[in-house]
Amino acid sequence: MAILEMENIKKSFGSGHTAVEALKGIDFKVEKGEFVSIIGPSGSGKSTFLTIAGGLQNPTSGTIKISGNDFTHLKEKKRAALRFKEIGFILQSANLIPFLTVSEQFQFVEKIEHKAKADFAKDLLESLDIYDLKDKYPKDLSGGERQRVAIGRALFNDPDLILADEPTASLDTEHAYDVVKLLVKEAHAKEKATVMVTHDQRMVEWSDRVLKMEDGQLIPQM
Ligand SMILES: Nc1ncnc2c1ncn2[C@@H]1O[C@H](COP(=O)(O)OP(=O)(O)OP(=O)(O)O)[C@@H](O)[C@H]1O
Ligand SMILES: [Mg+2]
Repeated sequence: MAILEMENIKKSFGSGHTAVEALKGIDFKVEKGEFVSIIGPSGSGKSTFLTIAGGLQNPTSGTIKISGNDFTHLKEKKRAALRFKEIGFILQSANLIPFLTVSEQFQFVEKIEHKAKADFAKDLLESLDIYDLKDKYPKDLSGGERQRVAIGRALFNDPDLILADEPTASLDTEHAYDVVKLLVKEAHAKEKATVMVTHDQRMVEWSDRVLKMEDGQLIPQM
Protein backbone atom coordinates (compact mmCIF):
# COMPACT_ATOMS: atom_id res chain seq x y z
CA MET A 1 0.00 0.00 0.00
CA ALA A 2 1.35 3.43 -0.97
CA ILE A 3 1.55 5.79 2.00
CA LEU A 4 2.79 8.71 -0.09
CA GLU A 5 1.96 9.19 -3.76
CA MET A 6 3.07 12.20 -5.77
CA GLU A 7 2.12 12.81 -9.39
CA ASN A 8 3.72 15.23 -11.81
CA ILE A 9 4.86 17.62 -9.08
CA LYS A 10 6.25 20.91 -10.31
CA LYS A 11 7.49 23.81 -8.22
CA SER A 12 8.66 27.21 -9.43
CA PHE A 13 9.91 30.11 -7.35
CA GLY A 14 9.68 33.67 -8.62
CA SER A 15 8.63 34.72 -12.11
CA GLY A 16 9.97 36.06 -15.37
CA HIS A 17 13.66 35.73 -16.14
CA THR A 18 14.53 35.21 -12.45
CA ALA A 19 12.18 32.21 -12.10
CA VAL A 20 13.67 29.01 -10.70
CA GLU A 21 12.06 25.70 -11.61
CA ALA A 22 13.03 23.71 -8.52
CA LEU A 23 10.97 20.57 -9.33
CA LYS A 24 10.27 19.56 -12.92
CA GLY A 25 7.42 17.06 -12.88
CA ILE A 26 8.18 14.44 -10.25
CA ASP A 27 6.37 11.12 -9.90
CA PHE A 28 7.12 9.32 -6.66
CA LYS A 29 5.62 6.67 -4.42
CA VAL A 30 6.67 5.11 -1.13
CA GLU A 31 5.08 1.96 0.23
CA LYS A 32 4.31 0.99 3.80
CA GLY A 33 7.50 -0.27 5.51
CA GLU A 34 9.77 0.96 2.75
CA PHE A 35 12.92 3.01 3.42
CA VAL A 36 13.85 5.26 0.50
CA SER A 37 16.92 7.50 0.30
CA ILE A 38 17.28 10.53 -1.91
CA ILE A 39 20.76 11.81 -2.64
CA GLY A 40 21.79 14.74 -4.78
CA PRO A 41 23.86 17.93 -4.82
CA SER A 42 23.09 21.16 -3.01
CA GLY A 43 20.34 23.16 -4.71
CA SER A 44 19.01 20.18 -6.69
CA GLY A 45 15.57 20.39 -5.03
CA LYS A 46 15.70 17.81 -2.24
CA SER A 47 14.32 19.98 0.57
CA THR A 48 11.71 21.50 -1.72
CA PHE A 49 10.61 17.99 -2.63
CA LEU A 50 10.41 16.82 0.98
CA THR A 51 8.53 19.85 2.32
CA ILE A 52 6.02 19.55 -0.53
CA ALA A 53 5.66 15.81 0.14
CA GLY A 54 4.72 16.65 3.73
CA GLY A 55 2.37 19.52 2.87
CA LEU A 56 4.55 22.21 4.44
CA GLN A 57 4.42 24.10 1.15
CA ASN A 58 2.28 23.73 -1.96
CA PRO A 59 3.46 22.57 -5.35
CA THR A 60 2.86 24.86 -8.33
CA SER A 61 1.05 21.90 -9.90
CA GLY A 62 0.57 18.17 -9.39
CA THR A 63 -1.14 16.02 -6.76
CA ILE A 64 -0.07 14.47 -3.45
CA LYS A 65 -1.85 11.69 -1.62
CA ILE A 66 -1.12 10.61 1.94
CA SER A 67 -2.59 7.16 2.66
CA GLY A 68 -4.94 7.70 -0.26
CA ASN A 69 -6.13 11.15 0.90
CA ASP A 70 -5.59 13.96 -1.56
CA PHE A 71 -3.52 16.50 0.32
CA THR A 72 -3.40 19.21 -2.32
CA HIS A 73 -7.04 20.20 -2.13
CA LEU A 74 -7.49 20.16 1.64
CA LYS A 75 -8.04 23.37 3.60
CA GLU A 76 -5.10 24.32 5.82
CA LYS A 77 -6.80 23.24 9.07
CA LYS A 78 -7.58 19.73 7.78
CA ARG A 79 -4.17 19.52 6.25
CA ALA A 80 -2.49 20.41 9.54
CA ALA A 81 -4.51 17.72 11.33
CA LEU A 82 -3.57 15.09 8.74
CA ARG A 83 0.05 16.19 8.88
CA PHE A 84 0.15 15.89 12.65
CA LYS A 85 -1.41 12.43 12.69
CA GLU A 86 0.32 10.86 9.71
CA ILE A 87 3.71 12.50 9.31
CA GLY A 88 6.86 12.70 11.39
CA PHE A 89 9.24 15.40 10.21
CA ILE A 90 12.93 15.52 10.89
CA LEU A 91 14.16 18.74 9.38
CA GLN A 92 17.63 20.02 8.51
CA SER A 93 17.59 22.18 11.65
CA ALA A 94 16.33 20.16 14.60
CA ASN A 95 13.49 22.66 15.33
CA LEU A 96 13.01 21.83 18.99
CA ILE A 97 10.86 24.04 21.21
CA PRO A 98 13.47 26.17 23.03
CA PHE A 99 11.71 26.55 26.40
CA LEU A 100 10.98 22.83 26.91
CA THR A 101 13.39 20.22 28.28
CA VAL A 102 14.01 17.04 26.31
CA SER A 103 11.35 15.06 28.19
CA GLU A 104 8.90 17.95 27.94
CA GLN A 105 9.31 17.92 24.14
CA PHE A 106 7.87 14.42 24.28
CA GLN A 107 5.17 15.18 26.85
CA PHE A 108 4.03 17.96 24.57
CA VAL A 109 3.20 15.43 21.86
CA GLU A 110 1.62 13.17 24.47
CA LYS A 111 -0.72 15.96 25.61
CA ILE A 112 -1.90 16.67 22.12
CA GLU A 113 -2.40 12.97 21.49
CA HIS A 114 -4.03 12.21 24.89
CA LYS A 115 -2.07 9.00 25.19
CA ALA A 116 0.32 7.95 27.93
CA LYS A 117 3.47 6.57 26.43
CA ALA A 118 6.03 6.90 29.21
CA ASP A 119 7.56 3.44 28.68
CA PHE A 120 7.78 3.94 24.96
CA ALA A 121 9.43 7.32 25.48
CA LYS A 122 12.05 5.82 27.83
CA ASP A 123 12.90 3.03 25.36
CA LEU A 124 13.09 5.48 22.51
CA LEU A 125 15.32 7.92 24.40
CA GLU A 126 17.59 5.04 25.41
CA SER A 127 17.84 3.68 21.90
CA LEU A 128 18.87 7.14 20.68
CA ASP A 129 21.34 7.46 23.54
CA ILE A 130 19.71 10.60 24.93
CA TYR A 131 17.96 9.36 28.06
CA ASP A 132 20.52 11.03 30.32
CA LEU A 133 19.76 14.35 28.65
CA LYS A 134 16.06 14.27 29.41
CA ASP A 135 16.07 17.26 31.79
CA LYS A 136 18.17 19.52 29.60
CA TYR A 137 17.05 22.37 27.36
CA PRO A 138 17.88 22.49 23.62
CA LYS A 139 20.39 25.32 24.16
CA ASP A 140 22.44 23.03 26.41
CA LEU A 141 22.66 20.23 23.84
CA SER A 142 25.17 19.72 21.05
CA GLY A 143 23.94 19.83 17.44
CA GLY A 144 24.03 16.06 17.28
CA GLU A 145 22.14 15.62 20.54
CA ARG A 146 19.49 18.07 19.37
CA GLN A 147 19.10 16.13 16.17
CA ARG A 148 18.66 12.86 18.03
CA VAL A 149 15.94 14.44 20.20
CA ALA A 150 14.19 15.69 17.04
CA ILE A 151 14.33 12.18 15.58
CA GLY A 152 12.90 10.74 18.78
CA ARG A 153 10.09 13.27 18.74
CA ALA A 154 9.22 12.44 15.13
CA LEU A 155 9.08 8.72 15.91
CA PHE A 156 7.20 9.23 19.18
CA ASN A 157 4.03 10.33 17.45
CA ASP A 158 3.97 6.93 15.69
CA PRO A 159 3.15 8.33 12.23
CA ASP A 160 2.82 6.24 9.06
CA LEU A 161 5.20 8.45 7.12
CA ILE A 162 8.61 9.73 8.23
CA LEU A 163 10.23 12.51 6.21
CA ALA A 164 13.84 13.20 7.15
CA ASP A 165 15.91 16.00 5.63
CA GLU A 166 19.62 15.39 6.29
CA PRO A 167 18.93 13.79 9.69
CA THR A 168 22.61 12.94 10.09
CA ALA A 169 24.09 16.25 8.96
CA SER A 170 25.30 17.36 12.39
CA LEU A 171 26.28 13.92 13.70
CA ASP A 172 29.64 12.18 13.92
CA THR A 173 29.94 9.04 11.80
CA GLU A 174 29.16 6.61 14.58
CA HIS A 175 25.99 8.39 15.71
CA ALA A 176 25.03 9.00 12.07
CA TYR A 177 25.12 5.28 11.31
CA ASP A 178 23.17 4.54 14.50
CA VAL A 179 20.48 7.05 13.59
CA VAL A 180 20.05 5.74 10.04
CA LYS A 181 19.97 2.16 11.27
CA LEU A 182 17.34 3.11 13.84
CA LEU A 183 15.21 4.80 11.17
CA VAL A 184 15.55 1.74 8.91
CA LYS A 185 14.69 -0.60 11.78
CA GLU A 186 11.59 1.45 12.66
CA ALA A 187 10.53 1.53 9.00
CA HIS A 188 10.77 -2.24 8.70
CA ALA A 189 9.52 -3.28 12.15
CA LYS A 190 6.64 -0.82 12.42
CA GLU A 191 5.91 -0.63 8.71
CA LYS A 192 6.61 3.06 8.38
CA ALA A 193 7.18 4.58 4.99
CA THR A 194 10.38 6.60 5.31
CA VAL A 195 12.00 9.06 2.95
CA MET A 196 15.46 10.29 3.89
CA VAL A 197 17.31 13.04 2.07
CA THR A 198 21.07 12.99 2.45
CA HIS A 199 24.31 14.33 1.01
CA ASP A 200 26.20 11.43 2.46
CA GLN A 201 26.52 8.47 0.11
CA ARG A 202 27.64 6.23 3.00
CA MET A 203 24.25 6.57 4.67
CA VAL A 204 22.22 4.90 1.90
CA GLU A 205 23.64 1.43 2.47
CA TRP A 206 20.56 0.08 4.31
CA SER A 207 17.97 1.63 2.01
CA ASP A 208 15.40 -0.41 0.11
CA ARG A 209 15.66 2.06 -2.74
CA VAL A 210 17.90 5.01 -3.66
CA LEU A 211 17.03 7.87 -6.00
CA LYS A 212 19.07 10.81 -7.10
CA MET A 213 17.72 14.35 -7.31
CA GLU A 214 19.34 16.05 -10.25
CA ASP A 215 18.28 19.51 -11.25
CA GLY A 216 14.67 19.03 -10.12
CA GLN A 217 14.27 15.50 -11.43
CA LEU A 218 14.33 12.17 -9.58
CA ILE A 219 16.40 9.39 -11.11
CA PRO A 220 16.33 5.81 -9.76
CA GLN A 221 19.77 4.52 -8.68
CA MET A 222 19.10 0.87 -7.84
N1 LIG B 1 11.63 29.76 -0.89
C1 LIG B 1 12.40 29.81 -1.99
N2 LIG B 1 12.42 30.89 -2.78
C2 LIG B 1 13.18 30.92 -3.90
N3 LIG B 1 13.95 29.91 -4.32
C3 LIG B 1 13.97 28.79 -3.56
C4 LIG B 1 13.19 28.68 -2.35
N4 LIG B 1 13.42 27.46 -1.82
C5 LIG B 1 14.28 26.84 -2.65
N5 LIG B 1 14.61 27.63 -3.69
C6 LIG B 1 15.50 27.27 -4.81
O1 LIG B 1 15.12 26.00 -5.30
C7 LIG B 1 16.27 25.19 -5.61
C8 LIG B 1 16.24 23.91 -4.79
O2 LIG B 1 16.46 24.22 -3.41
P1 LIG B 1 16.44 23.12 -2.26
O3 LIG B 1 16.55 23.82 -0.96
O4 LIG B 1 15.26 22.24 -2.46
O5 LIG B 1 17.77 22.29 -2.58
P2 LIG B 1 18.46 21.11 -1.75
O6 LIG B 1 18.69 20.00 -2.72
O7 LIG B 1 17.67 20.80 -0.53
O8 LIG B 1 19.86 21.75 -1.36
P3 LIG B 1 20.78 21.48 -0.02
O9 LIG B 1 21.45 20.16 -0.27
O10 LIG B 1 21.75 22.61 -0.05
O11 LIG B 1 19.92 21.49 1.19
C9 LIG B 1 17.47 26.09 -5.37
O12 LIG B 1 17.83 26.70 -6.57
C10 LIG B 1 16.95 27.10 -4.37
O13 LIG B 1 17.67 28.31 -4.46
MG1 LIG C 1 18.10 20.91 1.52
